Amino acid sequence: MTIQISGVVTRLMALAFASLLFTCGPPGQGISSWQPDESSVLLTGPYILLGEEGVAHIAMRVTKPGIPIVEWSVGSDEGPYSRMPATARGDLFVVTLTQLPAGDVIRYRVVTEQGSTPFYSFRVAAGEGEAIQFAAFGDTRTGHSVHRAVIETMDRENIDFVIHTGDMVANGGRVSEWEQFFQIERPLLAHVPILPSIGNHDMSGRGNYRHYFLHDLWAKGRRYYAKDWGNLRVIALDSGIECRDGCNQYQFAEQALRDAAEKDMLVIIFLHFPPFSSGKHGSSLAVQEPITALAKTYGVELIIAGHDHNYERTKPIDGTTYIVSGSAGAPIRAVNPKWFTAHARTEPHFVLLKVENNRIVLRAINLRGETFDTAIIDAVPPRR
Ligand SMILES: [Fe+2]
Repeated sequence: MTIQISGVVTRLMALAFASLLFTCGPPGQGISSWQPDESSVLLTGPYILLGEEGVAHIAMRVTKPGIPIVEWSVGSDEGPYSRMPATARGDLFVVTLTQLPAGDVIRYRVVTEQGSTPFYSFRVAAGEGEAIQFAAFGDTRTGHSVHRAVIETMDRENIDFVIHTGDMVANGGRVSEWEQFFQIERPLLAHVPILPSIGNHDMSGRGNYRHYFLHDLWAKGRRYYAKDWGNLRVIALDSGIECRDGCNQYQFAEQALRDAAEKDMLVIIFLHFPPFSSGKHGSSLAVQEPITALAKTYGVELIIAGHDHNYERTKPIDGTTYIVSGSAGAPIRAVNPKWFTAHARTEPHFVLLKVENNRIVLRAINLRGETFDTAIIDAVPPRR
């Protein structure tokens, strides 16, 4: 099954990517000039990426020459603090913290010659039996005021990590757009690790996405990966180009899903192009075929995508619920419900997800903080 599907996908995804890349509006549309945040001692960040179990990477760019230092401790009480100088990776500085315990709060700040950031706190994993809460959103691009409002609204929730479904910027080749993206998201990403997936708008340029998200450091240079939080496995896929190269990504996803099924874990997959969508772009058939086959076989509870600038939740399809969340800054667009639609909406939003008692509770929330859609997603058993 895998080889046949992969072969079809290889050809379809190459064609789909070429067409989709140019159907989202011209790159750079509506960009306003970017100004550094004078109130911060950092030009970019800090922001947190998760590595292997118990590992966190704290990334930043500085305003003036000098090596920043991270002061950090485990636990919510103040100190004692360890100090670790950052390592340069191109124009970024990175501090890698290891052997961080699950469930405990990690408290840190960045110290430079120009001053210190506030203290921030985050976790790298849930403690045994603890509930998890996280958020998902996408398509931020150049709607900076909406993007900022989504981040502010999301930051009122107590979330462990955040998923971005892609199209973070309009033109991934422009460093200034990434600077602005991280500046807008700084209040959230300084204390909430981000799990990224690449969108078609993020791909252009010279590897900025890969650079800023440190994929060479913690994802073996790949744009697909898996992270576990307690009994939840989160799998990020690159819906654009990976299958051109023989679909190693499919094999990775299948292995991660098989392992999760054997461990009786809940599973969420997220990617940019939606397998099912009633929005302007519609369902991406190139990803629908392999994703539905994997989801049906291994029992995937939820698949989250972006690309269409609206919200949509499907009815369970072979047990799996599909979400589109791509309205956090990009121009909102009408959505015309189809046979699979359970709820559709044209409004900037994010999705809040809570995992407890072996089920996922979903809430879609708008910029007034109102919940406009809810669903309870129970565990889906594998069908092997
Ligand atoms: Fe897109």
